[in-house]
Amino acid sequence: MVEQVSGGLLDPPRIDIGGAYLRPLRLDDVDAIHAYLRDPRVTELTSFPVVSLALAEAIINRSLTRWAAGEPSRWGIALPHDDQIVGTCGFVDWSRDHRWADLAYDLSVAQWGQGLMKRAITAALRWAFQCHQIDRVQAFVRVDNERSARLLERCGFTREGCLRDYRVCRGRRYDFSIYGLLRSDAKATESLAPEIGHIIPPGRNT
Ligand SMILES: CC(C)(COP(=O)(O)OP(=O)(O)OC[C@H]1O[C@@H](n2cnc3c(N)ncnc32)[C@H](O)[C@@H]1OP(=O)(O)O)[C@@H](O)C(=O)NCCC(=O)NCCS
Repeated sequence: MVEQVSGGLLDPPRIDIGGAYLRPLRLDDVDAIHAYLRDPRVTELTSFPVVSLALAEAIINRSLTRWAAGEPSRWGIALPHDDQIVGTCGFVDWSRDHRWADLAYDLSVAQWGQGLMKRAITAALRWAFQCHQIDRVQAFVRVDNERSARLLERCGFTREGCLRDYRVCRGRRYDFSIYGLLRSDAKATESLAPEIGHIIPPGRNT
């Protein structure tokens, strides 16, 4: 197991997810992220605040700051023909001491229904379990976000319970489901889609 941390800095690898790749976010991704997030269908069942350019910028800055501090964070999901970001996927919290990580993701509506996020999550999970001493990945999903719940179940997560009034989303309280995937659960799905999750060597284009 390789803990890829040197002097605080954690270099987010580019990872092949079959027809697309995960790559580090950049400051010039702000317009692309804003463009897909501003579609209300992307945020309506989430705890995102009101979407603005400043929010898109904050997402990127938070990701860059976390990786630079040695904390795993979100990747951008990019399509090879133009390297544009069509979604993000990765970790919004990560406890090295307690060996758990919180997963989060969002995708442009134009890309829904193709299995792209399942491949992105599979790759992020493989990286977390294979390169780091993480024993549990968890995700919090509004109980009315059925599409996200289906996705997590397809990725092998178990619904562990309901957190009542867990978050206020744009002024209203919502119950959230908590989903968990243990290292031992992930082992059971290791043989699925072995072509997903290869780290792209630096300097190689996909
Ligand atoms: C949650 C979200 C990422 C799910 O996206 P998605 O496209 O449904 O997820 P996937 O990439 O796994 O695609 C699965 C769908 O593609 C279909 N599909 C088509 N080809 C496929 C393939 N080759 N492999 C897998 N699934 C495929 C599946 O049947 C499935 O459709 P279904 O759910 O209607 O049965 C997306 O709806 C989203 O961004 N929502 C807004 C943000 C959000 O809710 N984030 C999560 C907060 S907790």
